[in-house]
Amino acid sequence: MSFDTVIRNIGQLILPALSEQPLKGERMGQLEVKEGAALAIAEGEIKWIGSNEEAGAIDAQEVLDAKGKVVSPGLVDPHTHLVFGGSREEEMALKQAGVPYLDILKQGGGILSTVRSTRSESEEALFEKAKRSVERILSYGVTTMEAKSGYGLNKETELKQLRVVKRLNQSGVLDIVPTFLGPHAIPPESKADPEAFLQEMIDLLPEIKQEQLAEFTDIFCETGVFTIEQSRKFMEASHKLGFQTKIHADEIDPLGGTELACETGSISADHLVAASDEGIKALATSDTVAVLLPGTTFYLGKDTYANARAMIDSGASVALATDFNPGSCVTENLQLIMSLAALKLKMTPEEIWNAVTVNSAHAIGRGKTAGTLKTGSQADLVLWDVPNYKYIPYHYGVNHASLVMKAGQIVWK
Ligand code: NIG
Ligand code: FE
Repeated sequence: MSFDTVIRNIGQLILPALSEQPLKGERMGQLEVKEGAALAIAEGEIKWIGSNEEAGAIDAQEVLDAKGKVVSPGLVDPHTHLVFGGSREEEMALKQAGVPYLDILKQGGGILSTVRSTRSESEEALFEKAKRSVERILSYGVTTMEAKSGYGLNKETELKQLRVVKRLNQSGVLDIVPTFLGPHAIPPESKADPEAFLQEMIDLLPEIKQEQLAEFTDIFCETGVFTIEQSRKFMEASHKLGFQTKIHADEIDPLGGTELACETGSISADHLVAASDEGIKALATSDTVAVLLPGTTFYLGKDTYANARAMIDSGASVALATDFNPGSCVTENLQLIMSLAALKLKMTPEEIWNAVTVNSAHAIGRGKTAGTLKTGSQADLVLWDVPNYKYIPYHYGVNHASLVMKAGQIVWK
């Protein structure tokens, strides 16, 4: 057989397990790393994986020499707020003065400031701006990602954001999985009646389903935003219409959103900085993936991070994401998050790699198609300019990707 591309001389080929379920507990510490490897690609798929010696006999149109460096599956970023108007650098001084995140929101800033900008910008402007972020995300080695709405808080702008995500997915190279986060904050015009606002967001679900504008729904369950009961109501309404659910849970106050996510069978529970012991136990006995966002804790200037060790050690499944957004984590760099996971979450390199590939794919329903490299899987991969897989969390703040491939095509170099 003749192949389109063969990649030879791979120092370490990272092969996260192809697993029906997200990897849990101890399994997260196991990572297959093949030394002296090679792989061959045809029709956008991995057709062969073997040793570098065997690769000499392989016929291909293009031969890439990995020069002893590392190859991994394309990374998966399972939590971003990709589409937004404006920016919030003016809030930096408030943060420096110690004004808490939820107080800035209460004063009409924070998320609500981005809501004003997102409402006023055209769909085209939002598209162009988000496209630049997608290009940056890709350059850091991400080939599949999630993107939420949530800066519209009304029908017109929520749909506008979701249409932008759809266009970005159709026109670009990355696979972008859309999430409806209508209940992200309570808009000023609904301050007097949050229940009515929540109902308004629930009433949008059939249209979003009908037009296939989102696969998941999400809600910000937090003090001063949405309660546990309101979150449950929204999730139940979502499930009835066939959406899988996500939740911004226990980020600042321990309201019990982690337990709620597990109880309702949500695909993921995200943030979990203040998750209780019961919440961690619930994660360990469910298939809900804990999506941890250490970049956000860092950017909010907090000292206490999500208890990843307790989660993994008690048997939960953990994934990592950027949470890229204009307020609480302004970075598209998932490699930086890998470093924070090592430094602040005390995760091992093996756990970190599983958390940005197989588990993050499961957190957005792509466990069968993304985050692994096996014969027959789509050739989404990254060539890293590093001597070994432990090097990426170690050398932080820079871009180690030297080539990104999506479905067998070089899409960034
Ligand atoms: O995941 N916590 C709620 N939502 C986002 C932040 C959005 C923003 O500040 O604009 C988050 O951190
Ligand atoms: Fe978020």
